[in-house]
Amino acid sequence: MKSLKYCFHPSIISRIPSCILSANRRYLATDQNASAKTETNNTTEAQAEIGPSAPELQVNNLTGDHQHVFEIALNRAERRNALGKQLLSQLDATLDSIKDNNAIRCVLFRSMVPNVFCAGADLKERLTMPQEEVGPFVSKIKEIFSKIFGLSVPTIVALDGLALGGGLELALACDIRIAAHTAKLGLTETKLGIIPGAGGTQRLPRLIGVAKAKELIYTGRILDGQQAYEFRLVNEVVKQNAQSDAAYQRSLEIAREIAQQGPLAVRMAKQAINKGSEVDLQTGLDVEEGCYDTVLTSEDRIEGLKAFQEKRKPIYKGV
Ligand code: COA
Repeated sequence: MKSLKYCFHPSIISRIPSCILSANRRYLATDQNASAKTETNNTTEAQAEIGPSAPELQVNNLTGDHQHVFEIALNRAERRNALGKQLLSQLDATLDSIKDNNAIRCVLFRSMVPNVFCAGADLKERLTMPQEEVGPFVSKIKEIFSKIFGLSVPTIVALDGLALGGGLELALACDIRIAAHTAKLGLTETKLGIIPGAGGTQRLPRLIGVAKAKELIYTGRILDGQQAYEFRLVNEVVKQNAQSDAAYQRSLEIAREIAQQGPLAVRMAKQAINKGSEVDLQTGLDVEEGCYDTVLTSEDRIEGLKAFQEKRKPIYKGV
């Protein structure tokens, strides 16, 4: 695969809090003459960024073959990417900064920590939190995951390792889940005497059916990637590789495929499916019609027809 070029689009970098950006990445974004230095393999970059001084959340606006794909990477190794206050506020700020960015056509969630996607709530932080703060904090997590669900562009999550509790709830808020066969996935909250509180009791039954969701939530059972696929919890399971990033590599392929399609059409398709699946069929068909009206009057529709006629690849603008 062609190496990825990591840098930030200026319109994105201006809106992301500086705490999320490493000194290295800020350099990449501002030094226009250093393009040769930005041509880097993402694994090398990831290794350079792991460690106590690295930001807990890293964002990358991919270029090259993966242009228009925006990557959000969890990077809190010492707590297995547990969702603490700092990581969550960085995630929240990132989502706000990208939600209206039309240059982004797909958002990909991943982890920089080998064999771990996210260990869920930060249980150490939770222990020190006064009881009256817990409810509002959990509501805030739910709100952040709803922002992920509500992003207008498709979202993919690469599950190369464990995703427990809130980590799996984050994944459930995404459109497409890809798991390595070695992944460990579970809503384990009942083991801790609580219930999934960031959307898990609602999103899991909608995804895999009420009876299966009840079984998994009541038992707190942890599934491997293959079992998760059999439960229809993930779209695909892939064999883990020596770099422990097989799910990420497969997710990149899917993101690239999505980013090549008409961006307005993909956004409207997502809106039609998301809104339509929550209402009765006739209302859903009306939702679809409204979304079709938007693409009907678009420049992209004409471009798609012209490209077909001229036997060339369409150049979509998303308008
Ligand atoms: N919150 C805070 N810290 C966590 C954490 C969490 N959810 N999960 C792991 N950590 C910390 C551990 O306390 C440990 O810190 P320490 O080195 O200071 O003791 C460190 O991450 C490594 O964890 P460890 O258990 O030693 O690693 P492991 O690879 O053997 O196991 C887990 C990883 C995730 C399976 C295990 O830590 C675990 O079960 N965590 C709880 C997950 C959970 O129940 N999540 C649902 C919350 S609703």
